[in-house]
Amino acid sequence: MNASAVFLLGISLLLGSGAVYGALPFDPLPEQPPIPADNPQSEEKIGLGKQLFFDPRLSISGTHSCNSCHNLSAGGDDGRAVSVGVYGRKGSRNVQTLWNAAYHTVYNWDGSAKTLEEQFKAHVTDPRIMAIPEGRVLVDRIARIPAYVKQFNAVFPDEGVSFDAIAKALSSFQRTLNTPGGPYDRYLRGDRRAISEQAKRGFDTFVEVRCASCHFWVNFAGPIPGVALQQGEGFYELFPNHPGTDYERRYRLADDQGRFNITQDNIDRRKWRMPGLRNVVLTAPYFHNGAVKTLAEAVRIMAKVQLKTELTAQQVDDIIAFLNTLTGEFPEITVPRLPVTAGRTVMDGYDE
Ligand code: HEC
Ligand code: HEC
Repeated sequence: MNASAVFLLGISLLLGSGAVYGALPFDPLPEQPPIPADNPQSEEKIGLGKQLFFDPRLSISGTHSCNSCHNLSAGGDDGRAVSVGVYGRKGSRNVQTLWNAAYHTVYNWDGSAKTLEEQFKAHVTDPRIMAIPEGRVLVDRIARIPAYVKQFNAVFPDEGVSFDAIAKALSSFQRTLNTPGGPYDRYLRGDRRAISEQAKRGFDTFVEVRCASCHFWVNFAGPIPGVALQQGEGFYELFPNHPGTDYERRYRLADDQGRFNITQDNIDRRKWRMPGLRNVVLTAPYFHNGAVKTLAEAVRIMAKVQLKTELTAQQVDDIIAFLNTLTGEFPEITVPRLPVTAGRTVMDGYDE
């Protein structure tokens, strides 16, 4: 079966045409996500990207590094409903995990960025995230840190410190944040004892009640880049799919119009880029607004608002046992040393 046939199988699951529920649309996570031709990986570039990731000087106030919200010692998020950026500014969306993010074809809950590189540029200049007024301001700041300049010149001999180069280094690092090798992947590779009987029952239920019509393939978020969709083309689904439920009112699930905010096209109202389900037990609270505190409630809501189905308590437990098998093996993350400017700060003027 070729790649587009696999995608069509996903679509036929979506349409409920009773297609064979093979294990096919559920491939194990590949060791490496796709690497764009214009930003090849190198050890030095990844190391530089890692330093930038942990460096709070990337935020205007010097208070937030990427890791402040995307905590790589844990689930790659912050455990809060919505983000708190510089100067205590609250956002409106739940922090997404960066573990396995590189397998997505578009970024953010509403798919507003086509690549990791593009996502960074909009994110770092977002007033509610890091609030850098424009790329040049960050470039000037980094260019005043001699040890960084040396590294940029070595990794990007043609451009040195530039907004593009910062985006590229950070994206290269993010493409290493993958968690293959968890119980579910070992199970798919033939180790029948890698997951419990309850988890197997949960997976069957997940397929039978048709969660898998949207949550399929390696990240349970639909197609990965370069197969049925190219990088920059999103896989979007409606949420809530069946409007007007009590859940929708209680958790304000339909307040944010999702992709519509980007395109202003009515067809995109309440459409969301499919989130992945890997490591989902580690990333509570749930949904784009972080309104739902427990995974059990999130699963019940999904069944009701997406599929008009009431799950039994046993089915919910089984599905959660299955979702637990999606927790992968995490690479060890050591906190890097950052270049310091001897005897002076580059944060002057922004330290109130
Ligand atoms: C103040 C908290 C905060 C900080 C700091 C922060 N982020 Fe985020 N990040 C978020 C939130 C919130 C979202 C979801 C945004 C949305 O969908 O509107 C997000 C989404 C993302 C995504 C999209 C993930 C996906 O699955 O589509 C990437 C990639 C990302 N951030 C990378 C970074 C990088 C790199 C940095 C450092 C330069 C960073 N973030 C700093 C809060 C933060
Ligand atoms: C019609 C497509 C569709 C179906 C069917 C579906 N989902 Fe979802 N799922 C989504 C979308 C879209 C989101 C993101 C919703 C949001 O927050 O905007 C989501 C989010 C989730 C989340 C929360 C992820 C997070 O990081 O916050 C979980 C857990 C989940 N789904 C599990 C399930 C389960 C279990 C089922 C079956 C009972 C299911 N889904 C059925 C489309 C679907």
